[in-house]
Parts: sequence; structure tokens; C-alpha cells
Amino acid sequence: MTAKTMMEARDLVQTYSVRQGAFKSASLHAVRGVSFALKAGKTLAVVGESGCGKSTLARMLTLIESPTSGQLFIDGKDATRPDKQALKALRRDVQMVFQNPYGSLNPRKKIGTVLEEPLVINTTLDKEERRRQARDMMTRVGLRPEFYDRYPHMFSGGQRQRIAVARALMLRPQVLVLDEPVSALDVSVQAQVLNLLNDIQEEFGLAYLFISHDLSVVRHVADDLLVMYLGRPVEVGPREKIFTAPRHPYTRALLSATPTIDPHARGQRVALKGELPSPLNPPSGCVFRGRCPYAIERCQAEVPELRDIDGVTVACHRAEEVMHNTASL
Ligand SMILES: Nc1ncnc2c1ncn2[C@@H]1O[C@H](COP(=O)(O)OP(=O)(O)OP(=O)(O)O)[C@@H](O)[C@H]1O
Ligand SMILES: [Mg+2]
Repeated sequence: MTAKTMMEARDLVQTYSVRQGAFKSASLHAVRGVSFALKAGKTLAVVGESGCGKSTLARMLTLIESPTSGQLFIDGKDATRPDKQALKALRRDVQMVFQNPYGSLNPRKKIGTVLEEPLVINTTLDKEERRRQARDMMTRVGLRPEFYDRYPHMFSGGQRQRIAVARALMLRPQVLVLDEPVSALDVSVQAQVLNLLNDIQEEFGLAYLFISHDLSVVRHVADDLLVMYLGRPVEVGPREKIFTAPRHPYTRALLSATPTIDPHARGQRVALKGELPSPLNPPSGCVFRGRCPYAIERCQAEVPELRDIDGVTVACHRAEEVMHNTASL
């Protein structure tokens, strides 16, 4: 049985108008041309440096912002520009977990209240039933139901992230968008929360869109990978294929900077030189060329289109050489 596609993005674009001085404004392309299909029970990891557009993408996928162009489908339904009624229904299907477990919970609300809030807003369940479901969910995410009357400051970072996960699950969504869900946690606690996410994914058959700058985290959770650079997808495909043989020089550089990469890959370390260019003034041709050890003249003249190489989509003129690591540096 093939799993159902729960979320599909077709060429999503987000462009912001930003002011420059008193009279001028400029277009900032925060996300350009992201496409993917995410199936039930699977995890798509979105990786890239700070500012590459990960959270902007997350805001489109969770229906907080509409895309400038492109299309979004959730559980087969068009979610690109839903009217108010459709939006309410679609929002139940996609929930978000944020990076900062300290900032994302209202300090004045007890945990029970936090968990029941989505039920109060979206359902007609009575008080008793809401309470039962909240306590039930607490048990499922590994929190003692006695904590029901406690306030967020009484919990550790890892426990707070469990609360955030529980809250996201209250309306039984199909998709969770997790924006750096373990980045603020200690390494030992990270593993516990990742295990919890893994168990819950299996139990509920959830689809995850997992945002992370950390490939060593992604390696353990992702089925597919979407690598972004300056708002553009540069490499998209199955995790194993990309980890084994990255086709884009940026992915290769990210991987070589990851401590848990297998020892065979040592000796091929590619340091990323230079800074991320400004998205307000991106370079011509390939936006990565200024930092790319493989760049040639063509990369300045011609924007590399996304193309398929052996089951992985990649935007690089020299991808074949990068993949086989035969390009001269
Ligand atoms: N509302 C907005 N108005 C204008 N520009 C924005 C807005 N939101 C984001 N940007 C810009 O869009 C680009 C992408 O930002 P985004 O927050 O999506 O990156 P990110 O990958 O999530 O970064 P980080 O890893 O630091 O969270 C950045 O250049 C950012 O300055
Ligand atoms: Mg972000």
C-alpha cells in the first residue's frame, strides 16, 4: 500500500517588499520555487543556513502567510488561498512546533489550559471531556497527568517541548511542521525528544516537515531532504542518496562540516568560505557561486535549473562531477 500524500508544494514563492530609505522599496525573495510531496508517516527535512528561508517556508505551510505565487495542497485540498471557513478546517490538519520551548508557552497559563485551548476554540467538547483528552495526551508524550495544574516555569526545556508537541496533537493533525524543535535543548535531551517524535509519528501516522540547520539531527529522522540556499532549493531527494553522494557543492560542504559523517568521507572536507550574500542583492547566475569551490564561468552567466540526477533533484551545472567528486578544485 502506498501512503497518501498529505502535503504538496508546487513552486512556492514568498517575496517581501522591504523599505530601503525613505522612498525606495526593494523585493526580497525569501523563498523561490520550493516543490515537494510529503506522504503520511514520512519526514521531509529542510536544511540550510540561517536566513535561507526555512521559517518563511514554514509560515506558508502552516497557513500563517499565503505564498506570493505557487500552490499548496493539504490532504488533496487546495490550501493556497483558502477562504475563512476552509482555512479553519485546514488549520486543524497542520500544526506547528517552534524552536524555543521557553517563548512558545504563555507563562500565565497552566498546562491543562494550554492543552485544552485548541479544543475550546475548535470543538464542542464539554469541560470534562476536554480534561480527559488533555490528560490522556500528557501521558502519551511522557508527562505525568498530575502536572495538569502546573505552570510552564515549573518544567525543564525538554518537558516544555513535550508540552508543545502535546498541544500540537490535540486536534489530531495530519502534518506537523517542526521548526528546529530540538535546537534549544541539551544533546542528551535532544535524543529523548527525537525518540518521542519518532514514536508519535508511528502511532498517529503523521507526516513531518522537520526544519533543522543540523545535519547530524536530520540524519536520524529524515526520509527525504530538501537543502535550501538563499531561498532556493538546491538539492532535493531521498536522505540516503544525498548522504551517500551529495550532488550539490553546498550540500557537500554542509555534510563535511557535520561531525557524525562517516570516516570514509574524511579528507574531502570542503570549508565554506565567505558569507551568505544578501537576498536583496543576490549574485547573477548561480547564487552559490561566490562560495563554491567548483564554480566556473558558466555559473556566473547561467542560473542552474533544477534537474534530476539518478533520483535526486539538483540545481548545479557541475553536479555530475561533484557527485563523483571528480571536479578539479
Ligand atoms: N516578514 C518579513 N519581511 C521581510 N523580510 C523577511 C520577513 N521574514 C523573513 N524575511 C527575510 O527572508 C529571509 C529568510 O528568512 P527566514 O526567517 O525564513 O530564514 P531561516 O532560514 O528561518 O533562518 P534561521 O535559521 O535564522 O531561522 C531572510 O533574509 C529574512 O531577513
Ligand atoms: Mg528560522
